Amino acid sequence: MDWLIRKAPALKCELEVPGDKSISHRSVMLASLADGPCVVRGFLPGEDCLSTMEAFRACGVEIERPAHTTLIIHGTGGRFKAPASAVDCGNSGTTMRLLSGLLASQPFQTRLTGDASLSKRPMKRIIDPLSLMGAHIHAEGPQDRPPLRVEGGALRGIDYISPVASAQIKSAILLAGLFASGQTSVTEPHLSRDHTERMFEYFGIPLKREGLKVTIQGGSRPQPRDFRVPGDVSSAAFWLVAAAAHPGARLRVNRVGLNPSRTGLLGTLARMGARVREFEHSNSGEPFGTIEIEGTSLKATRIMGKEIPNVIDELPILSVAAALADGTTVISDAAELRIKETDRLAAIASHLKAMGVPVVEKADGLEITGGQPLRGAKLDSLGDHRIAMAFAIAGLFAEGETVITGTECVNTSYPGFYDVLQKITAAGHSQTPLIIRQDEESAE
Ligand code: S3P
Repeated sequence: MDWLIRKAPALKCELEVPGDKSISHRSVMLASLADGPCVVRGFLPGEDCLSTMEAFRACGVEIERPAHTTLIIHGTGGRFKAPASAVDCGNSGTTMRLLSGLLASQPFQTRLTGDASLSKRPMKRIIDPLSLMGAHIHAEGPQDRPPLRVEGGALRGIDYISPVASAQIKSAILLAGLFASGQTSVTEPHLSRDHTERMFEYFGIPLKREGLKVTIQGGSRPQPRDFRVPGDVSSAAFWLVAAAAHPGARLRVNRVGLNPSRTGLLGTLARMGARVREFEHSNSGEPFGTIEIEGTSLKATRIMGKEIPNVIDELPILSVAAALADGTTVISDAAELRIKETDRLAAIASHLKAMGVPVVEKADGLEITGGQPLRGAKLDSLGDHRIAMAFAIAGLFAEGETVITGTECVNTSYPGFYDVLQKITAAGHSQTPLIIRQDEESAE
């Protein structure tokens, strides 16, 4: 499906976003490991998280879905069954990498497959540490690419120094560590999102954090606990930038995750001149609350170093913010973007250029000179949900029409994004502020 987008007035809106993708994946995993039933509310019904849900069903976990965003997961205490056929991880790197860690100890063989994009993504980063733990993982694709064959067996704890700040690497090792003998530690160069650690603690698994090092003891299992998934701040990011870059815009996002390892974007936008406020309402393992933002004429900034893992999924939309900001924004230390759902540095550079923005593409980043009017263009998603959504937002600021092609991929993380975009555009000239809520209770 193609999206047609035209320039829109400043948004004045209050909204909620669907459940957090990273947390939804982990809620299924931890609940499946618990010895008893857990109710998960606010689950993201996006394709990536549904891939995780189906993978656990294939491994013998009974999962009921009484409503669209509610799961009742009957945990097996970590005793899984061999799936009858290959487990399809779809587009989801998180599903494949975390599942590899979990299945590495199970007494059976599993084959993990993925779509064309996932089949190009590197798996050596998890195969290496898991092999040090004694796992037998064979990549069928060239250069350790998927499909993966995971031959389960006995594991031993390791003390791993990760070369990359990656929550997927850290989480795959920690999940394997639950089934390993002795202690398992992971140290990362900068802090990546810490949802796995928080969820381990919430589900009663003892865990030690010392700076950038996390340690667990093998043999622990989660206790059954109900869980509520907050809204995804990475989905909110699209609307936050749409508001931040428009003088006169006002946006409030409710019930959104405020985990500090994920909210780097708020600091970046504040540095660029936007007025941003956070109100934390509650903390049940994962902090969540309200974000308010007021738009302005943005100015350029630098995004680099330890800020990068915190905004890793927001760099496409932050690049759009940079294109709308006065001056040259420099993004560096972001080579990881080249191995996401697509090569995001190349995609951002080519799409911004098509909209008339001067961009210099570097090996590990971008230099984006903003402040000139954007030109509407026809742009392909390249099968990447965040590229599709980021450039849809760019289209709200562009002269003429912007068309985004290949938008089906957006269902991986934000089903309903285009409906919200259309409502926001239609409400643009109205004096009454628009309020958009997530429908929680609709039956499956
Ligand atoms: C994720 C970690 C990040 C992020 C991805 C989700 C997770 O990937 O980009 O969208 O849920 O653990 P990396 O671990 O590769 O940085």
